[in-house]
Amino acid sequence: MSRIVVVSNRVPVPAGNAGQAGGLAVALLGLMERRGGLWFGWSGAVVERSGQPTVTQRGAVGYATLDLTEAEHRGYYTGYSNGVLWPMLHGLPHLIAFRRQDLDTYRRVNRRFADCLVPMLRRDDRIWVHDYHLLSLPGALRARGVRNPTGFFLHVPFPAPDAASVAPGIRALVQDVLEADLIGFQTAADRDNFASAASGLAGATRRAEDRLEHGGRHVRLGIFPAEINAREFAATAEAQMREEPARLLRRSLDGQALLLGVDRLDPTKGLPERLEAFSRMLARRPNQAVTFLQIAAPSREEVVAYRRLRTELDASAGAINSEHGEPHWVPLRMLARAQRRDTVAGFMRLARVGVVTPLRDGMNLVAKEFVAAQDPRDPGVLVLSCFAGAAAQLPSALLVNPHDVEGMAEALQAALDMPLEERRARWQASWAAIAEATPEAWGESFLRALAPEDLAGIPAAGVA
Ligand code: G6P
Repeated sequence: MSRIVVVSNRVPVPAGNAGQAGGLAVALLGLMERRGGLWFGWSGAVVERSGQPTVTQRGAVGYATLDLTEAEHRGYYTGYSNGVLWPMLHGLPHLIAFRRQDLDTYRRVNRRFADCLVPMLRRDDRIWVHDYHLLSLPGALRARGVRNPTGFFLHVPFPAPDAASVAPGIRALVQDVLEADLIGFQTAADRDNFASAASGLAGATRRAEDRLEHGGRHVRLGIFPAEINAREFAATAEAQMREEPARLLRRSLDGQALLLGVDRLDPTKGLPERLEAFSRMLARRPNQAVTFLQIAAPSREEVVAYRRLRTELDASAGAINSEHGEPHWVPLRMLARAQRRDTVAGFMRLARVGVVTPLRDGMNLVAKEFVAAQDPRDPGVLVLSCFAGAAAQLPSALLVNPHDVEGMAEALQAALDMPLEERRARWQASWAAIAEATPEAWGESFLRALAPEDLAGIPAAGVA
């Protein structure tokens, strides 16, 4: 079997922090351990002078990581990836902060990734590039003569062409990503938006639902909704009920219903709107026996918009508690600190309402985790943004428009008041949508689509 070469900005190097790696990273690792693999990307370190990649071998998987210089990190990661592409891809153009030199650095770092990766490649490798940090990598690899099957998966949304075109430099990046053989998306809407942008901005022609023609080549498009291992997460959540964090939280609630939000502290997550909705719900019906716990893990603090958001959230959290609180009751608890994934699983099982209301999100695996964590006999209710990719798979959640704060306040109240029978029916429908999928099957389905002849022996996956 051929080797898998995964390229992503973040690499889950096993340096004792494997517990921190996300579900998808863990799943990809499982696949690579079976087939043999190389994982290439940024080390996470920022150094004074750039050097060669460091390679660490663990079993059948090699991790090759590059340090970034301060200027590279500022231009490629903070500046263009997170200051331009991230807000553009999530339809938030007012947050774009563009500097010409950041685009140059983004392209230069993509080329440097290619320069360092090419000597490590073998003839029969399958290359799988991940996410918006590396849009120009497929083009850079082809320019260096790489002919291996190359796939690209976009974990985040892709907006309509008008919205995409606001990012300076996007035309060339779309051309570069079109050098891949297969481009994967979370939803059909993302795929179709990309296909329109590829036609409008890069001169590609759509030949079929799942095929573009560009520069005389065919590029396949696919939909691969990211998944979690729901059964494993359910078992973790159940086991966590006996652990101290969940026991302390339960005791502190003293019978109050828990509303729970778990997000990175990110402008796309709709956190100010969410807190405002909670505040309005309390204004309509004061002194309810409820507590809202919002976990907001600090993220990308070098980016101005993220620092401003932190200040804004601290102010609104304070305002909610001073306005609605009582001497014996603090309605909102906000933690601007990351929590362990297994701890959060226990919190989810304790919650009556899971609040997942991003303004826009590629998939949002927290929504699926919330469903998986519930006690089937007495499940909580998921309040989910219709602009999260997960909404396409979880229509039985209470779907909300995060811009409609009144509507969200009503949905939160409806979730709290929902009778057991309806909670069970909604939960069962949501569980059925996620229970059989696994992240391994997700990875396999992408790799099968990239190079079908090469995947003999890998069991067929139940992923759409
Ligand atoms: C999103 C992106 C990932 C990214 C993650 C964390 O999920 O799709 O590519 O790794 O956020 O963000 P960070 O900037 O810390 O890598």
